[in-house]
Amino acid sequence: MLDIIEAKKRGRANSASELGALVSGYLAGDVPDYQMSAWLMAVCLRGMDQTEATALTDIFVASGTELAWESLSAPAVDKHSTGGVGDKTSLVVVPLAAACGLAAPKVSGRGLAFTGGTIDKLESIPGFRVDLTAREFQRQVEEVGAAIVAQSADLVPADRAIYELRDATGTVASPGLIAASIMSKKLAAGAGTIAIDVKVGSGAFMPDYESAIDFADMLVGIGRSAGRKVRAFLTDMNQPLGFAVGHSVEVSEALDVLQGKGPQDVTELALTIVSGLIRDSGLRPAPRAARERAERAISSGTAEAKFREIMRAQSGDLEAFEREPPHERLPVRLPIQLGRGGYVTRVDARAAGRALSLLGGARKVKGESIDHAAGLYITKKVGDPVASDEDWGWIAARDEDSARQALAALREGLSVADSPPPISNLILDQVTG
Ligand code: URA
Repeated sequence: MLDIIEAKKRGRANSASELGALVSGYLAGDVPDYQMSAWLMAVCLRGMDQTEATALTDIFVASGTELAWESLSAPAVDKHSTGGVGDKTSLVVVPLAAACGLAAPKVSGRGLAFTGGTIDKLESIPGFRVDLTAREFQRQVEEVGAAIVAQSADLVPADRAIYELRDATGTVASPGLIAASIMSKKLAAGAGTIAIDVKVGSGAFMPDYESAIDFADMLVGIGRSAGRKVRAFLTDMNQPLGFAVGHSVEVSEALDVLQGKGPQDVTELALTIVSGLIRDSGLRPAPRAARERAERAISSGTAEAKFREIMRAQSGDLEAFEREPPHERLPVRLPIQLGRGGYVTRVDARAAGRALSLLGGARKVKGESIDHAAGLYITKKVGDPVASDEDWGWIAARDEDSARQALAALREGLSVADSPPPISNLILDQVTG
């Protein structure tokens, strides 16, 4: 162990057999937490190259169950986001992909820090089951074409154990470790075609384009080594995606998108991702045909119908949710106002994430329960004109106190100016294998 730690401390690469010994020793209890922590910190300071990250990913995958979808008649696809604020894209991408003739077996996570997680959002729907058995998961994907489940304990147990230690030792933020953690879960989940949305900006783990593009290259390279088609999208996360930030409010917005009446940015991102999956899986290799297929699935209503089918299959009572969405049952609704007119220059995603946290809608520590009904609806985007007395949207809260605190935190992230700001693209770049 000391040689392995020493090599990394001096900036040398660890071999695949060293990494294997480290991980298997840790899982067996032979490598203590303090030695693993020392190695993790050395990786944070010295980094890992592509070969090391690929080897670590393979070792992680081999620690647990691997799902296989070759028996399906449709190509299996997967999608992952590195985490953002208001990012409900998976709720749209999964039914949309299935409505286009792809199979979408989706293993999703819960929220981490200021970013939300798909499983938390789905749990705002009464009765929705995220813990399907492996057999139920398989059968639903065969029959419905899609399912969204929480990660089971036997999928990449090495990542689960090491992630907990990273979380407790300040060693999460290392591109090589994050790449191995994400890609091992994607590879073990078994899809042949994978889209990764690498978020860039104030509401993301990657703050700038340069670090995000290197990271995207690493993810795509790991996928290529495993024989998977991976396309990474770099997308802006300086302002929240869509208008809704919160769990039930984001489910409502995802439904709006599937009905063809959602915000432009979420709609565009979902269509771009699904078009990429349609092309890369070989279903429709031509870019225009792929895009048209995805657009038609929304305009014809088949994507929305697929969402409802997934809900029914996983016991979610969407009719009860729609009759009275949880955020509409909350006693406090506070209008968002800034009191200054002009052009919107900033709707800071991190500030919106902090506001949701103050409403009780985000987790400060792992395992904590959260409020699925609290949320924000911010209808102004960078570049929009706004009058000084105009509402920017609303905050739904359980009490006045938390609503006022959330409003104050959000307002710290809002700015206007007399002239329109330059508008940055939502999709900054794409990397393919
Ligand atoms: N998400 C993951 O799945 N793993 C990491 O290491 C960080 C974010």
